[in-house]
Parts: sequence; C-alpha cells; structure tokens
Amino acid sequence: MNILGIETSCDETSAAVLCSGKVLSNVVSSQHCHTLFGGVVPELASREHERLIVTIVDAAITESNIRKNELDVIAATAGPGLIGAVMVGLSFAQGMAYALKIPFVAINHIEAHIFSPFINEGSSLPPPEGRFVSLTVSGGHTLLSLVEQDLSYKVIGRTLDDAAGEAFDKTGKMLGLPYPAGPVIDTLAERGNPAFHLFPRALTSASQSSKNYQGNFDFSFSGLKTSVLTWLQKQSPEYIEEHKADIAASIQAAIVSVLVEKTVAAARSQRIRAVAMAGGVSANSALRKAMKEACNKAGITLHVPSTLYSTDNAAMIATLASLKIYRGMETEYRYNKAPYASFTAGARRA
Ligand code: KG4
Ligand code: ZN
Repeated sequence: MNILGIETSCDETSAAVLCSGKVLSNVVSSQHCHTLFGGVVPELASREHERLIVTIVDAAITESNIRKNELDVIAATAGPGLIGAVMVGLSFAQGMAYALKIPFVAINHIEAHIFSPFINEGSSLPPPEGRFVSLTVSGGHTLLSLVEQDLSYKVIGRTLDDAAGEAFDKTGKMLGLPYPAGPVIDTLAERGNPAFHLFPRALTSASQSSKNYQGNFDFSFSGLKTSVLTWLQKQSPEYIEEHKADIAASIQAAIVSVLVEKTVAAARSQRIRAVAMAGGVSANSALRKAMKEACNKAGITLHVPSTLYSTDNAAMIATLASLKIYRGMETEYRYNKAPYASFTAGARRA
C-alpha cells in the first residue's frame, strides 16, 4: 500500500510517501520568513504553505519513484495547529484524494509525533511493541501519555502553561537569539556550564514550593521564563554577552532535568519499561543524553526518532495512517469530527 502524507500545521511544509509502511521520501521545507518576528506569524505561515504545497508534494512523489496513480491513500494533519496553515494541507490533500478517487485519512498531529519514534526506514512495518510512556515535547505541547498496544493512549501529564519548546524559544529570545532558539541554545550550551546558574525546576523534587510533586506528571515552564527575565535584567549586557553559553546551558539544564525526572517517574509509577520521546525538543542533544542515562539506570528502553523526524515532518503523518490501516482500525475520513478534540490547540504564536 502506498500512502502520501502531508503536514502543514505550523511552519514546515512537508510531504512523504510510504510503501508498506517504509519511508520512500520525506521532503520538508522550513519557513524562514518568521525569523524577523521572533515567532511564527500565522498569516505568513499559511501563505508560505500555499506557495509551496504543489512543489513539495510533487518532489515527494518524484523522489519516491511511485506514480501519482499508484497512490492508495492520502493522509494529512487535521490539527491541532495554526488553523490557516492546517487548512492549506488539509484542503489540498482532500482535493487530491477526491481527484484520484482514493480515501483520505485525517491525522492528529500530536498523535503522529507520539508514534514518530517508530517511523520505518527499513523493509517492513515495525509496530510499537507493548505499552510505553510517551513524552511529546514540541513548540506548542508538552505531554506525558500512557500508550497501549492497540495505539490508544491516555494523557497523564501536560504543561499547565508554556510548552518546553516555547520555554527554549522565549528564553532564547531574551538572550537575543534568533527564532527558533531551541536548536541555537542546544549548540551554544555545548560550550557552557550547566551549573552556572540554578534556574527553577517547577513541580519536581528540586522545587521548594512543591511538596506534592510525586505522582504529579504535569509541567510548568512559565516560572522559568520569568526567572530568566528577572535574572537577566539584573545583569549588565557585557556580563550576559560574556556568559551567553553558560546561561544557555543553565536554561537547558533546567528544562531537561524536569522532562527527564517526570518521564522516568511516570514510567516507574505505571511499571512500564519503555519510553518514547518525540517532538521538536526531542532533537535536543542534552535531553537525549540525559534521558538515555536515566532510562539505562532505571532499566527502561528508550525509543527516540532520528533528529530528522523529531521536528515536524510528513513521514510521521503517513506512518500513523499506515499503523492504523495495517491494524484494521477505523480511521477518521472526515476532519470535522475532530479526532483531536482532547488536545488544546497550542501551536505557538509570535
Ligand atoms: O515539533 P516541532 O517541530 O513543531 C511543533 O509542533 O511545535 O517543534 C518545534 C520546537 C521549537 O520550539 C524549537 O525551538 C524546538 O522544537 N527545537 C529544539 C531543538 N530543535 C527544535 N529545542 C531544543 N533543542 C533542539 N535541538
Ligand atoms: Zn509538531
């Protein structure tokens, strides 16, 4: 079965083709028009998707060596995301499926991230085995979910305010870094001291104010943002410039330690020995390293997508469609039934 996947929920225009669950092509175009504004401008994002969608879909089909009339299914992100951006890919996918007389499958973007560690570049479809705890960390979401073998899942923790990616991007902006600041902080932090300044780790064992953190898998990053801002306001511009890498490493350490502690505690509390990490922030090298160490120590197997599939991509959209279809699951053929209703739309804005 050949599936075309399309993703346009935020600032990546992407299309991918899968054959029997295996990725044949995955073309991603990231928008740079938002850099000036320090965040994604929804209207600009929609216009860029509209400008690029035909070229990107064509490129993915050409690269896959599959002809358009050999496609069996088209899947596209139906939300959550910036509504104008989602509508471009969604309407395009539905129109194309209608023209080719093949089924259309609506996919939940966050659900696709959850299963992205199982994207297949090999020869057969690898189904996730058994139950696992998923940490989904992107620019708009920070979620801990308990995923069952039948692909159903329950959200057991979420951010009460900002997403981890937003914490990276907004604190990075305070440091004068370009958007998106997450990858820039990652690189800067490599030569910085993570113990340079202790920024707050909310709702964890390290948090003075949180006595009942145990069994609480929710996150909070807005305090970190305020703490970075007030601390920076007390420093001279020269001192900030001199210690930029140390500050970046300290911010990163605060975010990473919370994510790792909560994820391992969640797996332990559910007696689950597998963790999967996904979403843009899962590309962070310090997070990957710390999560691997903590999981090894706790006897937990860690699944992480290749960094190519951490950030938004269409291979994950087509993969989830394929996982569902191969399991004979009823797939959502209409987008207005909102299969994503349990998530709050949280795509980041400028
Ligand atoms: O999943 P994604 O591509 O888009 C959303 O669905 O939001 O995630 C984008 C987020 C941004 O906040 C970006 O700064 C962050 O992922 N990100 C990173 C890294 N790469 C991307 N954050 C920290 N370290 C990275 N290496
Ligand atoms: Zn995403």
